[in-house]
Amino acid sequence: MFLMGSGGQIGWSPSKLLSTTKLKTISLVQLIPVFFFFASAVVAQNVGAPVAVRIACGSSENSYSNRTNLVWLKDFGYMGGSSASIPEGTSMIAPQLNTLRYFQYSDGAENCYNISVPIGRYLMRFFFTFGEVDNSNTEPQFDVSLEGTLTFPLQPGWSSYYDQAYPDALVYVDDGAATACFHSSGHGNPAVVSLEILQINELAYELGYPWTLYVILKTVKRVSCNALETGYGIDLDADPWGGDRFWGSDIDLNKGASTPLKTTAHITNCCGAPNFYPEVLYQSAATTGVGENLYYSFQVEPNQNYSIWLHFAEISPNITQKGQRIFQILVNDQPLFMGVDIVGYSGGPFTAIVLNKTIFVEGRTLTLTLKPVQGGILINGFEIYQLVPMEYTTVKSQVWALQALKDSLGVPSRLGWNGDPCVPQEHPWIGVDCGYDFTGNAWFLAGLSLSHQGLKGHIAEDISYLPSLQSINMSSNSLSGAIPSQLGNLSNLEILDISFNKLNGSIPGSLGNLTHLQELYLNGNQLKGEVPVALLSGPIHGASFNFSDNSGLCGIPGLSSCGILSSGSKVGLAVGTTLGALILVVCILAIRQRRYNIARAKRSHDAPFARSRLSSTPEVQLQKLAITDYIKSPHLEHTPQLLQ
Ligand SMILES: *[C@@H]1O[C@H](CO)[C@@H](O)[C@H](O)[C@H]1NC(C)=O
Ligand SMILES: *[C@@H]1O[C@H](CO)[C@@H](O)[C@H](O)[C@H]1NC(C)=O
Ligand SMILES: *[C@@H]1O[C@H](CO)[C@@H](O)[C@H](O)[C@H]1NC(C)=O
Ligand SMILES: *[C@@H]1O[C@H](CO)[C@@H](O)[C@H](O)[C@H]1NC(C)=O
Ligand SMILES: *[C@@H]1O[C@H](CO)[C@@H](O)[C@H](O)[C@H]1NC(C)=O
Ligand SMILES: *[C@@H]1O[C@H](CO)[C@@H](O)[C@H](O)[C@H]1NC(C)=O
Repeated sequence: MFLMGSGGQIGWSPSKLLSTTKLKTISLVQLIPVFFFFASAVVAQNVGAPVAVRIACGSSENSYSNRTNLVWLKDFGYMGGSSASIPEGTSMIAPQLNTLRYFQYSDGAENCYNISVPIGRYLMRFFFTFGEVDNSNTEPQFDVSLEGTLTFPLQPGWSSYYDQAYPDALVYVDDGAATACFHSSGHGNPAVVSLEILQINELAYELGYPWTLYVILKTVKRVSCNALETGYGIDLDADPWGGDRFWGSDIDLNKGASTPLKTTAHITNCCGAPNFYPEVLYQSAATTGVGENLYYSFQVEPNQNYSIWLHFAEISPNITQKGQRIFQILVNDQPLFMGVDIVGYSGGPFTAIVLNKTIFVEGRTLTLTLKPVQGGILINGFEIYQLVPMEYTTVKSQVWALQALKDSLGVPSRLGWNGDPCVPQEHPWIGVDCGYDFTGNAWFLAGLSLSHQGLKGHIAEDISYLPSLQSINMSSNSLSGAIPSQLGNLSNLEILDISFNKLNGSIPGSLGNLTHLQELYLNGNQLKGEVPVALLSGPIHGASFNFSDNSGLCGIPGLSSCGILSSGSKVGLAVGTTLGALILVVCILAIRQRRYNIARAKRSHDAPFARSRLSSTPEVQLQKLAITDYIKSPHLEHTPQLLQ
């Protein structure tokens, strides 16, 4: 659906190509076939219009906002929660909205919206408030993740800040569904009034080397200096591909002495692809007298990368030539751009120029200072984004398998099995144990710990799509039905504890394939029949096991024998059993000793979170990351660090 651009970039949307004049090198002949393909593939979409999904959370009907006549769709794409009402007029974007969706403790700690959209880049914006019905006037505290990456941690007091109540971020969606999850911290119910997913140009906000697409640009501030008007893109006649960004004013910001400057003159070069800025952004400016600094200061998260975008167009009637206004731009006293000459850069007055640079900020303050070299300062606007490296997600087939298991096992909603099981790493699902595969750069399932969870269903065959499982503990539930033979496909399995359930049928012979088995507990079920020879002759050696308290298992010492045997064979069996038991004991002792040695060797190397493994599988590295270290580790080029 998308053209591949040069230099390995993700392509432009063809519909956009048709309306932009910048890509002169692509001939119409090349475009036509792609265009037809696009048109037939996305029938419902207006050619030339970006995908725009605006959801009125909790609402049972579509509505239109008076201000803009944009359609707000009734609530869909959510995985749980309830709706409650809020007073009309609460939302500044769409005042007619009068509902929200909220997620109670019983809904689980993770609740998500999953909205199917084409692959591309999007501005995702929320509006958070809290209703009287659900939160009894308590500001809830929760985290919001986009595409599995923790993006907005709502700090106490968030509701009194405009930017935090309407947070937005630019996100690359590469899997056909935009996913936003709300992670409860146990302090109040997460609640959301609206969710907007607005497509932007494929090349919007390109940061250049070494930054990849896999960074979320979280808006810290987006300001039009001495704005004639503030508001959303649509209020400012901006192109819809601009993502309906909100442009605030700097009127209330502390910036030193400045003089406003305005014009109604047309601005050249301002408003095209890929970022589609509104012209009005350049028709106002903050200026200073000769030799006077201008500065803006913001509280930011420390030790993060920030991308700064600065907007200039010379609109002073007194400056018409290059060399008449030159200044330096500093961030926290470090030079960002030196010798900036707006007219010199843009080619003339009333012509826009955008400068961008990405920098690392150590402290909690980001101060942007403009220092004159010649004349005074002029600036029209700026944007500051925090770069949030995107997390790698869990192997898709494993997520699907877990979704099937969630249904078959009857996993209660309080365990929060929504979104991605392993990420954000701060909020994995309850009852899952994740590992990281450094070769495939993906998370995988290493363990299921679902003992005593009131599970009432059966074990679905889909469990075989979790081949990396090392441990399954689903003991003390009410699982019924048979043990699926597909369990035998889980070749990494070391622990299988499904004791104290209502499992019936016989033990599948395929369990004999589980050569790494160390603990096998099938006791306390309703199993019948012979314990498979394949299991007895293989995996059981050296493993702890328990087959007791079943409906009629036979064929192993301590259980009844299978069928009626002659006294001769009974003697033979007795001798054989004794001999077998003796061999078993010797084997166990030998293996225990070996394990003890390995375990001791490993203990001294392994970091606290790492899972010690007694045997290693060459194709997958099952060592776990220390959560804190992983987050601190450089990750922008997708090379997470192995904990050491
Ligand atoms: C999200 O939506 C996509 C596409 O519609 C679908 O393939 C995926 O399974 C959904 N994920 C969940 C967790 O429902
Ligand atoms: C942003 O800056 C980078 C690095 O200087 C540059 O490659 C890129 O073209 C700039 N983007 C825009 C839209 O100006
Ligand atoms: C399974 O979980 C239960 C409850 O936490 C625990 O008592 C039991 O020892 C676990 N089984 C194994 C094999 O670790
Ligand atoms: C499970 O193993 C059987 C053979 O034991 C094989 O036929 C089947 O394809 C395997 N299934 C999966 C999902 O790997
Ligand atoms: C196992 O139990 C289920 C009900 O839980 C029943 O439908 C099935 O017939 C039983 N299977 C055997 C082999 O007893
Ligand atoms: C900031 O960027 C640098 C280099 O591009 C990278 O190595 C570092 O990990 C980034 N830091 C964070 C916190 O994202």
